[in-house]
Amino acid sequence: MDLLFLLNGSYEGIASAEALELLSSCGARPSVTFASGQLLAVSCAQVPADTLSRLALSHVVLSALGSVEAGKGELDPARLKAALPSGSFCVRVKKVDKDINAMAEERRLSDQIITATGATVNLATPDRHIIGIHVGGMVHTGLVVAGSPARDLQARKPQHRPFFHPSSLDPRLARALVNISGATSEVLDPFCGTGGILIEAGLMGLAPYGIDIEEKMVEGCRRNLAHYGVVGTVVLGDATDIGAAYGRSFESVVTDVPYGKSTVIGGQRDSLYASAFSEIRGHCRSRAVIVVPQSYDFVSLGFVEKYHFVIRVHKSLDRHIYVLVP
Ligand SMILES: C[S@@+](CC[C@H](N)C(=O)[O-])C[C@H]1O[C@@H](n2cnc3c(N)ncnc32)[C@H](O)[C@@H]1O
Repeated sequence: MDLLFLLNGSYEGIASAEALELLSSCGARPSVTFASGQLLAVSCAQVPADTLSRLALSHVVLSALGSVEAGKGELDPARLKAALPSGSFCVRVKKVDKDINAMAEERRLSDQIITATGATVNLATPDRHIIGIHVGGMVHTGLVVAGSPARDLQARKPQHRPFFHPSSLDPRLARALVNISGATSEVLDPFCGTGGILIEAGLMGLAPYGIDIEEKMVEGCRRNLAHYGVVGTVVLGDATDIGAAYGRSFESVVTDVPYGKSTVIGGQRDSLYASAFSEIRGHCRSRAVIVVPQSYDFVSLGFVEKYHFVIRVHKSLDRHIYVLVP
């Protein structure tokens, strides 16, 4: 299938990796056919819509109907007829990088679809939603196969959980990190805090496991998981001794380490990071996604670095996201 992803413009690199790693983890063997800013076009094997709905950093996912020059090109009528055999539709054109007359383009695409398929326009409750993404003078058009989970994610923001701590990650980012880990069965967060990462993992059907050194965090994390109906295991322990906490390895590790600012650090930051990262490498079979407040030489610990993203949080804090193979 040919898919189009409209990526979150604030996190294009992470959003693209999230989409590609999620497709890879479900065996869809994605290959990028086109990428420009917020648009990612991918050819891959069949993927269920509910898998695509897991994505946090794609606004929408489309099954491609064709790409045409804005104001001129014609979509292939046979492809339109196959995609819309009956029922009603509505077309929206989203402008990504340049101003065009979106309404005129929507009318042009609608006329082509009506002529090719005989389908009717229904703006209020259409059977199928079609979106054209305007980028670089082209309109890339497709049927909506998965929408954005943005509203649900909003409801899980740290301030809406029963146990709050300001160190918690935004659920969008937490979910994207879990997807980038490619986990298919379980996720360990050895610095779990309030459980932001574990909540997203659990809601996506993965078994969540947490460790935190503070009793109040462990209890708060358990309350938060229960609040969202997530069944997980959270233990009091030390990230520098995952063996003592669980006595086994995990498919994936996804974690946001203490930054040494507002969160408590057991021991000094540098030595904590060095011991915890070695311990993660020893207890992670497939992939580790680690968020740190500085660049870090994971290669010297024996990891292979797959991605490194940097997100500016504010003037004095950048988040470095490392995606690592142990
Ligand atoms: C940045 S917070 C994690 C935030 C988390 N992602 C969330 O959504 O709440 C770091 C957590 O690490 C815990 N911590 C600090 N040192 C630790 C250690 N040695 N072992 C395990 N947890 C530790 C802190 O208590 C804190 O809850």
